Formats: sequence, structure tokens, C-alpha cells
Amino acid sequence: MSQGIERFIRADLAGFTGYAASKSPDVLGDKAEESEMGIIKLDANENPYGCSPAVNRALAEYSDLNIYPDSWQTELRKLLSEYTGVSAKHIVAGAGSDQLIDLILRLFLEPGDEVVNCIPTFAMFDFFTRLNGGVPVEVPRDEEYRVDVSAVRKAVTGKTKVIFLASPNNPTGTIMPRADILQVLDTGVPVVVDEAYYEFTGETVAPLIGQYANLMVLRTFSKWAGLAGLRVGYGLFPLKIADCLLRVKEPYCVNAAALVAVKESLKDVDYLMASVKTIIMERERLFGRLGEIGWLKPYPSQANFILCSVLEGGARELQQKLEDRGILVRYFDKPFLTDCVRISIGRPEENDILMETLNEIGEEIDD
Ligand SMILES: Cc1ncc(COP(=O)(O)O)c(C=O)c1O
Repeated sequence: MSQGIERFIRADLAGFTGYAASKSPDVLGDKAEESEMGIIKLDANENPYGCSPAVNRALAEYSDLNIYPDSWQTELRKLLSEYTGVSAKHIVAGAGSDQLIDLILRLFLEPGDEVVNCIPTFAMFDFFTRLNGGVPVEVPRDEEYRVDVSAVRKAVTGKTKVIFLASPNNPTGTIMPRADILQVLDTGVPVVVDEAYYEFTGETVAPLIGQYANLMVLRTFSKWAGLAGLRVGYGLFPLKIADCLLRVKEPYCVNAAALVAVKESLKDVDYLMASVKTIIMERERLFGRLGEIGWLKPYPSQANFILCSVLEGGARELQQKLEDRGILVRYFDKPFLTDCVRISIGRPEENDILMETLNEIGEEIDD
């Protein structure tokens, strides 16, 4: 056959490169030396303290896995309403906030429509824009990674369907001031404020939901609640958009185990927020220590990771040297990030090993 099955594939996806996801320690095999703590995973902004122990207990006892979850998410939305202070009518949950990014773009985009991204930012905005036939329009941040609000406003055209603003932003850790968000909302274009790291800052525009017909806020249980593996996130939407999303979403997108986990997590917020507090303290300690390394420049962060410019020896090379020693950090082969690595905050003992290893690598650079 001269032309294979690929001729049936959507032409616009022929060159789609996909998402460079974090590495699972399982796939490293024995390529990496393990430290005395095993592989130290600081590459996906996960919670090093895990989920609430109450989640593990409740899942062990759960016996209804043969029953589909409630497609209308009635109980889940009620619980999320109590947690956020936003009425359940405005809430839609999904299999991670990733799924909600996809769903929002499916709802708004027709082929060729534009989506504004303030780069460098979370790569899934670009990924789902392309997957849904949209065209990403990139507005670079300034040298301190702040959103250039007037450039965002200028980038809006008759084809702009969505503007993404992550606050704190991944991978830079930068927060976006509310006044700047309001200026972007003034464009009237649908605006997604991605607050995946909200619990690490306490800053939110959630109370503005319902006041702006074009404001959407995304949150997740992956970071503060340590549930990345169960995939559960949610969005706060204007009523009309929430109604549409509930109709276009895949019916059972939040699985039964995730619902159990959310219930238990929301009963154990004090425990989870104590871990968040420890991560914030560790972030500040690590920021200070990274700053003492002459060949690294850490950027201040409001989230559970720190972006660092690598001033000598190369960022990609540093990522590989750390991986060879059993420490995973993130390198992005992307504009504005090729000289950077992103380090998720680990437990104190993991961060100490990271620092020792960086100092050893530094001695090699000096030799
Ligand atoms: C800004 C931002 N949004 C969304 C997500 C995805 O979160 P989830 O695990 O809920 O899909 C992440 C994960 O890293 C993120 O950094």
C-alpha cells in the first residue's frame, strides 16, 4: 500500500510534537544512581508529603468501584462550593485541571481561532490549543517574568477566543497582581486564571466569579492536596459557561476514587495546609541556599518550585548530571527557558541532598 493509515489522520496534527511530560522514576531503570533516599523527584511540582492519610484509609475501605460516579458531580460540586465560597452552580470538576483546559478550548475554539499565552508559561495551554485546531499567540513576559498587560491587550484580535493567565505562573513562580488581571478582563475576551498553586499564596480572584461574564478560574487537588495521581481539578465559571461545560464534558470524568479522596481531603484541610506551610518554609530556605551558588540565579517564587537560570555549564547539562545522580529536575527546551531548570520543593532532607550534589557539580565546573 503506497499510502498507509496515516492519510486518515488530521493533517494539522501530522507534526504535533506532544507534551514533554515529567519522567516517571520507573522508566529510569538502573540508568540513574540512586541516592540513599532513592530517586529524588523534584521535576513535576508534586507534593513530597503525599495526600492526607485519611484518603488512603477511605480508599482501602471503599467498596463501590463497580458503580459509575455521578455525572452531575452533585456532591463534589457542593463540597467544592463550601471550600471555595463560590456557589455550586458555578463549579465544574474534571480529571485534573488539564482536562478543564481542554474542555474550555473545545467549547470556544473553531479552527484558526487564536489563544493568547504569556510565555514562558504552562505548556498545556499551547498543547490543547493546537490539539483543538487553535493558533497560539505568544506574548513574552518581561525580564522579571511579569505579564506585559498592554502587550496582551494589543495581541487581542477578532479571532481571539481565550487568554490564559497562570497565577502563580508555572514555571516562573510569578504572581499576577489583581489590577493587571482586571485590565485583561476588560478586553471582554474569555480569560482563564489558572490558580493551580493558589494554596501556596492565598491570592485568588475567585470572589470575582459571577461579576465578570468572561472570568474563569482553575484549581487542582494535585499540588496542595497531594492527589496528582488521582487526577482531580475544578473550575469556577460564569453560569452560562458552567452550564455548557457540564453538557459537553465526558459524563464520568471525575472517577469514584477521586471523589472519595476529595471528600477526605476537605475534611483534613488543616493537615494538608500544614504540609503546604512546610513546603513554603523549605522554598524560602532553598531559595537562599541556591542564591549562594554563584553559577545559579534563582527567581523568587510564590509556588512549590523555584526556577533557576544556570549561568555556567548549561541547563540541559545540569539536568542530566543531576539525573545521573538520581535527582530529577525539569529542563524545558523552550524559548526564554533554555538556560533554566525548574526545581520542585522536596522534603528538607531531599533538598539537602540536592544542595550537596549541586555543590559537587559546581566543583567539577570550577576544575
Ligand atoms: C499552572 C498549572 N495548571 C494546571 C496544572 C495541571 O494540574 P492537574 O494535575 O490538575 O491537571 C499544572 C500542573 O503542573 C500547572 O502547573
